[in-house]
Amino acid sequence: MEKRLRVELGERSYEIVAGAGLLGQAGRLLQERGLAGKALVVTNTTVAQFYLESLAASIRKAGFETVTLILPDGEEYKTLAQVEKVYDTAVKERLERSSVIVALGGGVIGDLTGFAAASYLRGVHFVQVPTTLLAQVDSAVGGKVGVNHREGKNLIGAFYQPALVITDLLTLKTLAEREFRAGLAEVIKHALIMDTGLYHLLSNRIREVQNREPGILEEVVLQACTVKLRVVEEDEQEQGLRAILNYGHTIGHALEAESGYGVFRHGEAVAIGMAGAALISETSGFCPAGTHGKTVAILQRYGLPVAIPREYTAQALYRRMLLDKKVRQKRVRFVLPRRIGEVLITEDVPETVVIDTLRRLGAG
Ligand SMILES: NC(=O)c1ccc[n+]([C@@H]2O[C@H](COP(=O)([O-])OP(=O)(O)OC[C@H]3O[C@@H](n4cnc5c(N)ncnc54)[C@H](O)[C@@H]3O)[C@@H](O)[C@H]2O)c1
Repeated sequence: MEKRLRVELGERSYEIVAGAGLLGQAGRLLQERGLAGKALVVTNTTVAQFYLESLAASIRKAGFETVTLILPDGEEYKTLAQVEKVYDTAVKERLERSSVIVALGGGVIGDLTGFAAASYLRGVHFVQVPTTLLAQVDSAVGGKVGVNHREGKNLIGAFYQPALVITDLLTLKTLAEREFRAGLAEVIKHALIMDTGLYHLLSNRIREVQNREPGILEEVVLQACTVKLRVVEEDEQEQGLRAILNYGHTIGHALEAESGYGVFRHGEAVAIGMAGAALISETSGFCPAGTHGKTVAILQRYGLPVAIPREYTAQALYRRMLLDKKVRQKRVRFVLPRRIGEVLITEDVPETVVIDTLRRLGAG
């Protein structure tokens, strides 16, 4: 069984196909999409041991001349040096404009492989096969690809839409618990900004979600994707609406930057940030009483953190917020809940309220 979600972006439209056991169907799906010829599958050492063979076999069986490239695992390898390895393999194997590059893995592999696909021969067909929950609901479906620079994350990149996204929910079975939870933070974020139906689904079916049952994951992943896609379809190049996807990011980014990255998973920092944003909103009277409590409750039920460890001070975190590249004239932008399922964007939160909130979250 598979379900399909169409992403409407004019001539760059594509489909997300989701289901249990789709790796073995990849060849057929690529064919159906009109792709043919040579396929380069890029993955990392961790994902390769679980899934590379079945994906490559399926693509080969469908008649593609298939080559594979296995990169090292880790955010520290999301670099131009690894992109160059993709170029080297593509050149050596004589990939052409009509060839396809397939990313099999989480957000790191998807982002860097997508950037290689966007730039090799000025763009070849790109297929995402996301294998982390975060990649399935977020990084594989927005069209943003890129790599880190030693001076900052994601400083080099492009907007490049895939030809197809193949989401096999069974791949989530092998994901580390912490990675799965970090992905759930993004799912919860999508529910809280735009989808009360998804919020209720997550609230009512906790055990099935936590047991990673493919049936419920299919629903959850597709609904979460739908939120992201509705935003992306309206704002592909990140002019305005897309900013609501940054719910939880103002505090979350500050915490990631202050802790030096690697301490919090991005989703964990965003979870704390959403708890903070809800507190600011409620204190400021932007949302009904109880919104903060509901936000914290759902995050905690999924084992996500909602407090700032005391070693990080409110002043230091606020300074980090002011350093953010989006801040102009010292006005920090917040995405705040208006209620569960709807957010607003504001630059009118006084410094004292932010500092007070950070302390109430536990900051020193
Ligand atoms: N392009 C975008 O719009 C966008 C959006 C959000 C995040 N991102 C990027 O995504 C990256 C984070 O992605 P991520 O959280 O997927 O991290 P990741 O790609 O590093 O994957 C996390 C870990 O899980 C492993 N893994 C992947 N799939 C697995 C599976 N099925 N079973 C077992 N292990 C598996 C990976 O090897 C890795 O060790 C960051 O670089 C971030 O900047 C991009």
